[in-house]
Amino acid sequence: MGNRGFASDNNAGVLPEVMQAIADANSGHAIAYGGDEYTREAEAALRRVFGEATQCYFVFNGTGANVVALQAMARSYEGVVCAATAHINVDECGAPEKLSGCKLIDVPTPDGKLSPELIAPVLHGFGFEHHVQPRVLSLTQASEMGTLYSIEELRALCAYAHERGLLVHMDGARLSNAAAALNCSLADISVKVGVDVLSLGATKNGLMFGEAVLVFNPELQGPLKYIRKQSTQLFSKMRFLSAQYTAFLKNELWRKSARHANQMAQLLAREVGAIKEVQLTQKVESNAVFALIPKEWIAPLQAAYFFYVWDENRSEVRWMTSFDTTEADIHEFVAQMRRIAELKG
Ligand SMILES: Cc1ncc(COP(=O)(O)O)c(C=O)c1O
Repeated sequence: MGNRGFASDNNAGVLPEVMQAIADANSGHAIAYGGDEYTREAEAALRRVFGEATQCYFVFNGTGANVVALQAMARSYEGVVCAATAHINVDECGAPEKLSGCKLIDVPTPDGKLSPELIAPVLHGFGFEHHVQPRVLSLTQASEMGTLYSIEELRALCAYAHERGLLVHMDGARLSNAAAALNCSLADISVKVGVDVLSLGATKNGLMFGEAVLVFNPELQGPLKYIRKQSTQLFSKMRFLSAQYTAFLKNELWRKSARHANQMAQLLAREVGAIKEVQLTQKVESNAVFALIPKEWIAPLQAAYFFYVWDENRSEVRWMTSFDTTEADIHEFVAQMRRIAELKG
């Protein structure tokens, strides 16, 4: 593996236990498209965590999970309320709109989180044929800004949405980072607070690939398998995807690796926060650190460690930690930043 940096948790490799599970699944033949024993085992493991009524649909990636979920939840004349910063709104190249046909109703929010107060103004026009009908509230946990909804905030938002006839979708690309940080179960912040459909991510926390759409609302379960296939998200050699989930859930491997990534983000935030020119812009609650840094530091720092500029105008950058980040990685990165500070100083 190359230099470990802070560009994205997607830049990390694969957890050894997950790699082993893929290798172990590589024996003999197994029925394709999910008709195999590995997939049954992974589904059973997911049901133990999320409840026996959960329907599981494995897909290739997070964008795929979101587009499959949203198509199952809304028709093209309906709307999906989300944070303006939501991945479905800014980082999926319009796939949710293209495939579901739904308008995304994006709500500005300073920290990536929505609240009843923020969404109330866009919940109007119900029954008016000229107006897109708000139908889904999509929440991201952990949010794209690395912030977290508490269990109480989620419960209140789901109740608020349901009272107004909306369903709740959760983009849980980093649900395990959120659960590790909140010291709760994966179910506590999804099915138990009233989420109807969850895009459960695991790739950012150590899988090679593959996410799962988990349907908790029994009224939505019928068409999912057709939607998944039509959306090109049905994997033929499914055992290699599903076997990873069994390993990920076993003895809560996800919690160990997510907790480590979160702790590394805390350390990174402390270390960079001690540099006077650096200003953290978001609470560090999961595995992301957002900061304003002097513009002239960006290129030389990126030459040593690639990372993304979040907002060029503000000179705001995003650093992500992952399951394999080490304290030494952080110390070296911060030392490099201090060297640049001296040179530019
Ligand atoms: C919050 C969130 N949702 C969904 C995704 C989609 O993941 P993928 O790149 O696998 O489509 C990402 C990836 O960065 C993400 O951060």
